[in-house]
Amino acid sequence: MVHPGRRELLGDLHASYITAFSENKTSFEFYATEHFRVSGVYWGLSALHLLGQADRLDRTSIVAWVLSCQHEGGGFGGSERHDAHLLYTLSALQILALYDELHRVDADAVARYVASLQQPDGSFWGDLWGETDTRFSYCALSALWLLNRLDAVDVQAAARYVASCKNFDGGFGCTPGNESHAGQVFTCVAALDIAGRLDLVDADLLCWWLCERQTKSGGLNGRPEKLQDVCYSWWCLSALSILGRLHWIDQQALADFILECQARGVQLWAHADEEAGGISDRPEDQVDVYHTFFGIAGLSLMGRAGLQPIDPTFALPVEVMQRLRQQHQQGQ
Ligand code: FPP
Ligand code: ZN
Repeated sequence: MVHPGRRELLGDLHASYITAFSENKTSFEFYATEHFRVSGVYWGLSALHLLGQADRLDRTSIVAWVLSCQHEGGGFGGSERHDAHLLYTLSALQILALYDELHRVDADAVARYVASLQQPDGSFWGDLWGETDTRFSYCALSALWLLNRLDAVDVQAAARYVASCKNFDGGFGCTPGNESHAGQVFTCVAALDIAGRLDLVDADLLCWWLCERQTKSGGLNGRPEKLQDVCYSWWCLSALSILGRLHWIDQQALADFILECQARGVQLWAHADEEAGGISDRPEDQVDVYHTFFGIAGLSLMGRAGLQPIDPTFALPVEVMQRLRQQHQQGQ
């Protein structure tokens, strides 16, 4: 049942949910998410930034903590003392970019770390253990772009490898021959955009496949026959946005689906339900910071009033990207 007024964006409740989640250092979720905490902080901080409430988190302690996750070799782990990985290296740089603190890292060391993971076929390992995935191609190119150090790797070889993961349906998979998946579509289209090689995308074919991801619920799934899930509002929409075809899906129906996944909390006697705020993957499910960010990011891509616009390629606020472009032009 759709409750009256359910279709509003509950921005203040989401900001409170993210802040409370970040400050509660004794919860089960806090311990369960330790190995990818740097990414969790990027999702929470980005969501707050889009809501215009980034100052609800403590900048000084977050920046010091992120820097403490860096290894001598240049890469960042998902938390203090965790092994370096490209996924967390990108998230760490995104947090520093949000706070305009990228100058605090040794860009040469990070660039050397990223370059050390590129393989002769242009692909990237996620870390020294050798898993290859187009997610890591994106992380490598995005991280180097943020540092203005794309010259540290063979960008054209990286683009050729990503293109070799393209399938008959226009979509992309993790490695050549792997099935198309909307998450990989984001990483591949965004990586090709950073590489200046969007010409390698079959835009009409791919965007048709992406439109087919919208189900009767209004939400999007990540592959045929899968359930709709709020995070695919980002993985699919970002690619449609990069390729200039956002209008190919029913945006109103998608926005309604995302807003239905908000936990609004029930006022029981004098106590508000502790589940107030946050967005889940599907209506009535448990909320988490990941789906809260990607729900808000999807709404931002669709131009929702009250949200800062987000860049579809870098998954950072447009305002932050404009500042970085200016700094790069000034040679910083
Ligand atoms: C779906 O994952 C999503 C992906 C495969 C893409 C992940 C991309 C990155 C980690 C790169 C960094 C991203 C940003 C926004 C900066 P899933 O495991 O939920 O897929 P499932 O729904 O099939 O389980
Ligand atoms: Zn999801």
